[in-house]
Amino acid sequence: MTDFARKLICWYAENRRDLPWRHTDDPYRIWVSEIMLQQTRVEAVKPYYERFLSALPDVTALAGADDELLNKLWQGLGYYARVRNMKKAAQICVKDYGGRLPGTYKELLTLPGVGAYTAAAIAAFAYGEAHPAVDGNVKRVVSRYLGDATPVEEPAFDRRARDFLYAQIPPDRAAAFDQALIELGATVCGPDREALCGGCPLVDGCAAFRDGKTTCLPVRKEKKERKTEERTVLCVVFNGKTALCKRPGKGLLSGLWEPPTLEGAKSENEVRAYLTARGVRVQAVTSLPPARHIFTHIVWEMKGYKVEALSAGEFDFYGREEYEKRALPSAFKPFFADLLPKR
Ligand code: ADE
Repeated sequence: MTDFARKLICWYAENRRDLPWRHTDDPYRIWVSEIMLQQTRVEAVKPYYERFLSALPDVTALAGADDELLNKLWQGLGYYARVRNMKKAAQICVKDYGGRLPGTYKELLTLPGVGAYTAAAIAAFAYGEAHPAVDGNVKRVVSRYLGDATPVEEPAFDRRARDFLYAQIPPDRAAAFDQALIELGATVCGPDREALCGGCPLVDGCAAFRDGKTTCLPVRKEKKERKTEERTVLCVVFNGKTALCKRPGKGLLSGLWEPPTLEGAKSENEVRAYLTARGVRVQAVTSLPPARHIFTHIVWEMKGYKVEALSAGEFDFYGREEYEKRALPSAFKPFFADLLPKR
């Protein structure tokens, strides 16, 4: 074993967090956790992980799951394409792999939504195959350890990181090695100013530490500016029920539910006119505090109105039970309290 691997794995044995997905070698459970953990913090994932697995305990259950249920189980995690891809992948597993995840890294890579990181994580944690799982945490560690200022989004960086880690990963301790690197990046070698080098097992060989560059690395490419879009959100209540519409099947937040939402920032009169034209008799309109939601590429600046209606018009209204079955994106969270009367 290399010095790097030995120090890392010893450190992990002493310092690992006890996380639910570290008690299993079931590839399905590992897959679910690793997909959830992309873009989402460990603490936020925990309740979702348990709930998802109780509802859908295996590949076959996921392959046959209703899309409404899937979206509901994912509500609040964001990046819903992740769960749509998981269902597609599960259907392939049922068709081609007897209802199990494929048993090798190479085959895992062919599944929708399973990239090099996820395939390596599943292959290492479930099967002990020696592939480095290189996520953002691990890139940070490697960038600092090697003192490599190539932007971490560049393929050249990825290649170098992989070459380095393939040379370090012990063939018989791949799972511990990969978990340890992820753990180190999450807890010791943190983003920005958070590197806690005093507790790092790799500090002796770390170029960034030696050169005082831990705060300059990793280098990231400048992100494109997000586009701002104005929206007007209508919390329309009629007979104790709330109006909800299903978003289109394609594009941002596809297939999720939302209160009636208009493009642009509308005035109270425009809102009244819009609803009246759709057959709603409006009793009262009051304006709500504005809200903002930041997506990867877009920002929504939302104006909100609470509307008391005297008829349903063209809209479908839902009581609490029906409402709670439906997945509403977190973007509308600031308005959730106004969608239904208080219990
Ligand atoms: N982030 C991604 N994968 C993880 C794992 N297995 N444990 C903790 N955090 C993670």
